[in-house]
Amino acid sequence: MCGIVGYLGNKNISSVLLVGLERLSYRGYDSSGIAILSKNELSVWKQQGKIHRLSELLKPLSIQGNVGIGHTRWATHGVPNEANAHPHLDNEEKIAVVHNGIIENFLELKKDLQREGHVFRSETDSEVIAHLIERHFEGSLEKAVEKAVKNLKGAYAIAAISENDPGKIVVCRKGSPLVIGLGKGENYISSDINAIVSHTKNIMYLEDNEFAVITKNEVVVKNDSGEVLEKEIHHITWDAEASEKQGYPHYMLKEIQEQPAIVRNIISKHCTDDSIIQFPDLRMKDRELKNSSRFIIQACGTSWHAGLIAKYLIEKYARTPTEVDISSEFRYRSLLPEQGQIVVALSQSGETADTLACIREAKSKFFKVLSFVNVLGSSIDRESDGVIYTHSGPEIGVASTKNYVAQLLNIFLFALYLGKLKGHVSQSEIDDLVKEMRLLPDQIQSLLDQEEHIMAIAERHHQSREFIFIGRGVNFPTSLEGALKLKEISYIHATGYPAGELKHGPIALIDEKLPVVCVAPKTATYDKMFANIQEVKARKGQTIVIATEGDDDIVDYADDIIPIPACLEELSPILTVIPLQMLSYNIATLLGCDVDQPRNLAKSVTVE
Ligand code: F6R
Repeated sequence: MCGIVGYLGNKNISSVLLVGLERLSYRGYDSSGIAILSKNELSVWKQQGKIHRLSELLKPLSIQGNVGIGHTRWATHGVPNEANAHPHLDNEEKIAVVHNGIIENFLELKKDLQREGHVFRSETDSEVIAHLIERHFEGSLEKAVEKAVKNLKGAYAIAAISENDPGKIVVCRKGSPLVIGLGKGENYISSDINAIVSHTKNIMYLEDNEFAVITKNEVVVKNDSGEVLEKEIHHITWDAEASEKQGYPHYMLKEIQEQPAIVRNIISKHCTDDSIIQFPDLRMKDRELKNSSRFIIQACGTSWHAGLIAKYLIEKYARTPTEVDISSEFRYRSLLPEQGQIVVALSQSGETADTLACIREAKSKFFKVLSFVNVLGSSIDRESDGVIYTHSGPEIGVASTKNYVAQLLNIFLFALYLGKLKGHVSQSEIDDLVKEMRLLPDQIQSLLDQEEHIMAIAERHHQSREFIFIGRGVNFPTSLEGALKLKEISYIHATGYPAGELKHGPIALIDEKLPVVCVAPKTATYDKMFANIQEVKARKGQTIVIATEGDDDIVDYADDIIPIPACLEELSPILTVIPLQMLSYNIATLLGCDVDQPRNLAKSVTVE
């Protein structure tokens, strides 16, 4: 969580930093700040709340300077207020520091520093870094940073500037991401490419335990033994436009609307005209996949829901036992390494700390790791043995929508690929399945075209303070995802249940006021689902039913019905989730919620 940006050059510095922070604000948005060196004098501006409040503060000022750093915060230690906002300063107010991550031993460091006379102005863990750099400063900022971080336990990406060693930004990382953007007579730093891609497409990734000294004209990267490293320069192929709103009121709506195009793109990337499935970027050998004996999937939130669906698909098409864990729980298992087991990570951001920690844990026990990742070059991408890029483009809205659909489609394709490798699915079966898959973009579009109908349902129910979502089989995870979407952006309490579990407790909640969203397409579990919907109706629950077009039987038990096109059971979660995304979006906007930046959340969860 938290976003860091920095700039050295002759552009309007406050505008470069503010635009960068705005683009990073999905990483946290409870306070922000910038520090700028102008004529070798350090100035700092901070503000509680979203970035636009900092912009308002800076608007009347004419800020000069050619070295600056900025930060957008997601509070961990200390409430979101101005004092706790970054950048943090040392005692003498000559050094400014921004930090992303958590310093686990900050309390003991703080006590030591206080004994030495350092005065703290915030409750944060991060402030100790500025004071530690001050403690070690003897004229060279990089030397002081190198010495300071030796004291730190935890995760960090740090950028520091100093009045007493001006003209440079010193950065280092361990466990939190940091990229360096290269320009002509100017350079940038950022927590991710998104914030700087409108300025440069030439990117260097800083790895753990690396330091960089960046001036306007030079970037020198060293490892923690002080050796200068030759770093690869990556050329980014996507444009800033891909991460802009393009006229939509919210990123979330834009991302929901993009889904037909994304699905089309994934199909064309992974499937030839002859329906041959291919994963050209996969860094794992077919032999390794063919010999796989078990998959252990681990992920968080929406990605975990995709993992639950992956279990159904991998077991069905590749007949390989598959387990699914929430990453933050996976770590407390006693993993029993066994020949052929593969740990699978699912992550949009590629930076989720819990998921990354599991990858490291699995690798330390000699498991192979295969990841489904959206962000190229992210930590999870770089640390996994094999990778499948989900190709959903930059996802900015905090609530994941298009990447979930992209994950599901990639999982479907992977399960077929694996099934064929293992001899459980023939090419002619794949031909038929691919035919069904190719219908998806138009089918998704037909669901998006139901906008007015879904808005009318949202209008009827947006005042409810509680919702239940139910589903079965491959659509049980859809009910979890529908509930998560609703609660995270509208703050309405919602829970997803496997429909068969209702009678074991949750049915007690049902009365004439409770909306129950029933995910009931025509699949193998339809009859059982139908019975569960009747049970809800018998207790006067308000049913909103996602049903297959032409299902006349269910109409009598549905207060509201959202038809979806008939489709293959294994592909149905890709369709059933679309109206749930739209329902949540509409309810949240009717309630006046900030759907792109819901309270207390951040898109990239880089703390454990
Ligand atoms: C919910 C949502 C989160 C993420 C979770 C994992 O809409 O976006 O639940 O799915 O934080 O993030 P990634 O996929 O980046 O690892």
